[in-house]
Amino acid sequence: MGSGPSNAEPRVLQAMSAAPLAADDPALGVLLEDLAALERHVFQTQNQACLALTGASRAGLEAALASLIEPGDRVLVGVYGHFGELLCSLASRHGARVERVDAEWGTPLDVAAMVAQIRKAMPRLVAIVHADTSTGILQPLDSIGAACQEVDALLLADVVLSIGGCEVDVDGWGVDVAVGGLQKCLGGPPGLALVTCSARAMRGRVSRRSQPHTAYLDLARAEVHSTHMLLAAREALRMTLDEGLTQRWDRHHRASRALRVGLEAMGLRLFGELSSSVPMITLVEVPEGLDEAGVRQQLLAEHDIEIMAAFGPLRGRVWRIGTMGTNARLPSVRALLSGLEAVLASRGLPITRGAAVDAVTRA
Ligand SMILES: Cc1ncc(COP(=O)(O)O)c(C=O)c1O
Repeated sequence: MGSGPSNAEPRVLQAMSAAPLAADDPALGVLLEDLAALERHVFQTQNQACLALTGASRAGLEAALASLIEPGDRVLVGVYGHFGELLCSLASRHGARVERVDAEWGTPLDVAAMVAQIRKAMPRLVAIVHADTSTGILQPLDSIGAACQEVDALLLADVVLSIGGCEVDVDGWGVDVAVGGLQKCLGGPPGLALVTCSARAMRGRVSRRSQPHTAYLDLARAEVHSTHMLLAAREALRMTLDEGLTQRWDRHHRASRALRVGLEAMGLRLFGELSSSVPMITLVEVPEGLDEAGVRQQLLAEHDIEIMAAFGPLRGRVWRIGTMGTNARLPSVRALLSGLEAVLASRGLPITRGAAVDAVTRA
């Protein structure tokens, strides 16, 4: 129950145990078509280009940036956490002139400021994280997408955390390229990036630009596949759609609400602007005087539950607790609350035992 990878679904792991497929096996073509069709539903898009790249999610982000940017292009990045910084560094490595709009960690970007900067800078590409795992903040994209269309900029969205856990509406928000991962809310293992690309981006840039300085991560030629990861992705997306997108988003929302009610009943303080928070990760402040890492280690050793530390300015100040995929359920939330309560009580924090789980039941 950290910041991901979350537990993969047994059905997904089982799907990976099939024999590998060779590049010219007709079954591979069927698998890729199935996967693209499933991606269209999950990304909520009509895009023809729905790809799967084997590699970490950042391989998908790097492929998108490498394929969209010509050296010297102006790229505007909205940064409100660690993964916005990652977009800046990947874009500059691929030759972009990066400009940025920043928000303090724990708050979203000021949309009006972002829109004004898009109109002023007229960038080739705008890159933004939809939900940043380092801060637990969700960034609405619809007005930003509309501003990009106005100035004919492409919009790249990192939906690695949000996909499968809350709404991602690629076409509705005017997102040109979205990159997702299996390992957060889709119930799969890490190692595959889902990428969808609009016709505007394919026509205008990906298939026209001079060769990117990468062959493996060229979106126009994404042809090499680890088939067991494709099988995992198909199963994970099938399970997601079998459950229903809105039902799955609701489940994530309910789980985080339960977790937050329980943490507050334990006397802990939540971090960040809660009205802008995502439903799949919760940041909680480490009480004064407690050993941040010691608590996590004890929770793992004694209760078999993993939560995560934080990055950058939040390091040592907050824990990050995930309710993602299969863990976005009340039994997981209750187990976490009971375990954390026991660990904190053992370290002398004055806690009314049972209050957190009781509060969840009442709520
Ligand atoms: C929002 C976001 N983007 C990108 C990534 C990068 O994923 P990976 O570590 O698989 O490259 C992560 C991973 O935590 C993430 O949370």
